[in-house]
Amino acid sequence: MSSLLEEIAAVLKEAQIAFREALDLKALENARVFYLGSKGRLTGLSRGVGSLPVEERPKAGQAANAAQAVAKKALDEAIAKLETAKTRSLGLDVTLPGRRRQVGRDHLISRTMSEICGVFEKLGFTVVEGPEVETDYYNFEALNFPADHPSRDMQESLFVGDKLLLRTHTSPVQIRSMEKLKPPVWIIAPGKTYRRDDDITHSPMFHQVEGLVVDKNVTMADLKGVLSAFATAFFSPKTAIRLRPSFFPFTEPSAEVDIACVLCGGSGCRLCKGSGWLELLGSGMVDPALYKFVGYDPQEVSGFAFGLGVDRAAMLKYGLANIRHLYEGDLRFLEQF
Ligand code: DAH
Repeated sequence: MSSLLEEIAAVLKEAQIAFREALDLKALENARVFYLGSKGRLTGLSRGVGSLPVEERPKAGQAANAAQAVAKKALDEAIAKLETAKTRSLGLDVTLPGRRRQVGRDHLISRTMSEICGVFEKLGFTVVEGPEVETDYYNFEALNFPADHPSRDMQESLFVGDKLLLRTHTSPVQIRSMEKLKPPVWIIAPGKTYRRDDDITHSPMFHQVEGLVVDKNVTMADLKGVLSAFATAFFSPKTAIRLRPSFFPFTEPSAEVDIACVLCGGSGCRLCKGSGWLELLGSGMVDPALYKFVGYDPQEVSGFAFGLGVDRAAMLKYGLANIRHLYEGDLRFLEQF
């Protein structure tokens, strides 16, 4: 009897050491089988209790059960220790405090685009898009640009192939939309545009929002009403607009639209160079010549169009001195908006 108890104690001690010193989970599993498996050493000793004289069995049985329980606990602790070490070695320590993720936000240009589109959507316009790489046909020809117009020159626009260029404005979406839709058409087309321009108010890549309405009995009063509603919603409820005669190949008549200076309100300052007005966008009544390209009947419909520079609108609304702030990716600037 005492020899069995001694053996149990010795094997338990051995098992505890083996579990504690196992270098990995596989070695630990081998040790488990060796001591606690169905043919393991501690299990075998427990069975040996049955061959003792009856009066000795309870004490020996208790000792064997206790030894198995202690060994099992040592095994569980060893498993936990090895698993923690494994996750730590993967670079994962669940006990460390979490790292805070920076929450992003819309870039000022995206935000200005959404604000502009939001105003026009409330007025009943639908947002559409067109490609940034455009053909000469959509960028110029169907917009009534004469063959010798300077912007068709390689030196002025960014060509990427024969008769293929980075669109210089969003106006080609006018043609693409009219080809797809039957009047009434009320669309705006936001997007990127490209020109060989680079100074503090011009970037070779910039953004425009194009607008087009083709419907029955559309007049210049509708144009002025829509753009006035836009100016008051986008800038401030008091922002006045004025129309100045201008020229674009695809509108007739054409008008440049100014807003009352965002800084002085119209009395004259450095920003508006004393005039009280700031140039905002180009617009006009759709030249009937365009309807021929898309199969509309100029006797049936009329319309107006406008093209707005998003970067410029953002600069005016948020008082930016240099367009490059928008493209340098400096968080100290971007986080202000
Ligand atoms: N596409 C012209 C530009 O980029 C702007 C423009 C002027 C658009 C008059 C229009 C418009 O739709 O009617 O300079």
